Amino acid sequence: MRTYHQLTDPDRSGLADQIGAQRRRVAEQLAGVQRIVAVMSGKGGVGKSYVTAHLARSLARSGRAVGVLDADFNGPTIPALLQTPPEAAAPAIGLDGVKCVSMGHFLTDGAPLSFTGPPAEGFVWRGAMEAAALREFLGDVKWGPLDFLVLDLPPGMERYLALCDILGAPPAVLTVTIPTAESRDAVRRAMRAAVERGSDLLGIVENMVGPQFPGTAGDDLAREFNAPVIARIPFNPSPSVWDEIPLR
Ligand SMILES: Nc1ncnc2c1ncn2[C@@H]1O[C@H](COP(=O)(O)OP(=O)(O)O)[C@@H](O)[C@H]1O
Ligand SMILES: [Mg+2]
Repeated sequence: MRTYHQLTDPDRSGLADQIGAQRRRVAEQLAGVQRIVAVMSGKGGVGKSYVTAHLARSLARSGRAVGVLDADFNGPTIPALLQTPPEAAAPAIGLDGVKCVSMGHFLTDGAPLSFTGPPAEGFVWRGAMEAAALREFLGDVKWGPLDFLVLDLPPGMERYLALCDILGAPPAVLTVTIPTAESRDAVRRAMRAAVERGSDLLGIVENMVGPQFPGTAGDDLAREFNAPVIARIPFNPSPSVWDEIPLR
């Protein structure tokens, strides 16, 4: 198999043209979007999707046009959190008028997505298919004018790196952690990747704050990365908590 660098010059410029065309299409679709915010965490289960959905709803209640792109293709939870209608259009309209696109809308049985490909190259294949799905969501969906497009990324850095490549520029990043040292260490890796790529760190949301999860992850990460803790969310917070978050 030839690598990119072994392609002959005419082929190579053809490839460059294709990448250019894709980026232009994404740029055209997102031309009316003021701010793109990627929500990251180091690990799953810390409430990233929960925070994304509630933050998006709060922004929408304050009069912003908000879209959520559920980029967690294997565990899409945003449709349930935003209560989008079952036969959803793309974008679907959820609670408080938040627009939403999710792989969950395209799965009839609710089962996790499994991309089938050559078994020996399963990992590479999956990564390529997921990057292609993200590119389609960004290049095909007519979001219209938005103040915020918030992306709920799966755990790890892979989707973030694909996003940087597709956008051609690093998105602003908001990180979600629970207070524990374990979560802090996982989020630290995600934040390092974001800083290396040149993302603007909007801040840290410390979630599930309370006796169940002792720790100081929020403050530790804030100090290390010189980024603010923009919210501390307890279990089952009152709805007004979201309206106090300074992301405007
Ligand atoms: N502050 C919170 N209070 C109550 N339940 C929460 C809170 N944050 C998250 N949850 C719940 O914890 C579970 C995991 O949250 P989720 O957003 O799916 O995590 P992630 O997207 O990081 O994997 C979900 O059932 C969610 O409803
Ligand atoms: Mg999630």
